[in-house]
Amino acid sequence: MNIAVFVSGNGTNLQAIINAVKKGVIKAKIALVVSNKKDAYALTRAKNECIETFVLDHKKFSSREKYDKEIIKELEKRNINLITLAGFMRLLSPYFIKKYQGKIMNIHPSLLPVFKGTHGIRDAFEAGVKKTGVTVHFVDEELDHGPIIMQKEVSVEKTDTLETLEEKIHKVEHELYPQAIKSVVNGKTKF
Ligand code: GRF
Repeated sequence: MNIAVFVSGNGTNLQAIINAVKKGVIKAKIALVVSNKKDAYALTRAKNECIETFVLDHKKFSSREKYDKEIIKELEKRNINLITLAGFMRLLSPYFIKKYQGKIMNIHPSLLPVFKGTHGIRDAFEAGVKKTGVTVHFVDEELDHGPIIMQKEVSVEKTDTLETLEEKIHKVEHELYPQAIKSVVNGKTKF
């Protein structure tokens, strides 16, 4: 199986996936890392591991679909059959989602369906919940939505600050995403 990882930022989840592939936990190849941001640190992580990268600035495109079609060309060249979004800060077009239905995974730092959107950790913290967590799901046409693959709770203690909660959530992400990818790669979880 050939995996593409889509990123826009730091890429700590990309690193966790890379490590799991290197350890043989995920039996697949990361054939491409796609980014809409040329300065994303995730790209440095990919290059350090000699993984091919493809950067495409969305600002140069008049529509989401036109942008996605350029990316699809690159995915097809490499026979990508699983796409893992790892901090990719863009919505995919319905065209893309239909084409890869059941083959796109995302990680979100809350217990979906609550606290969707860009600030899942902060929103949960500010709401004063006692439990939040991490969700890995298949992607459908709605934002942060689609069949849930795995979820893990993280408790919010009175002593937690936003920063300590972020740390706890990210730690769980780096364990959960490789496990969920493994389960999809092995055919144990299907859309
Ligand atoms: C993670 O919190 C992930 O859940 C969210 O974006 C963040 C990406 O972080 N979708 P990183 O770039 O993997 O470090």
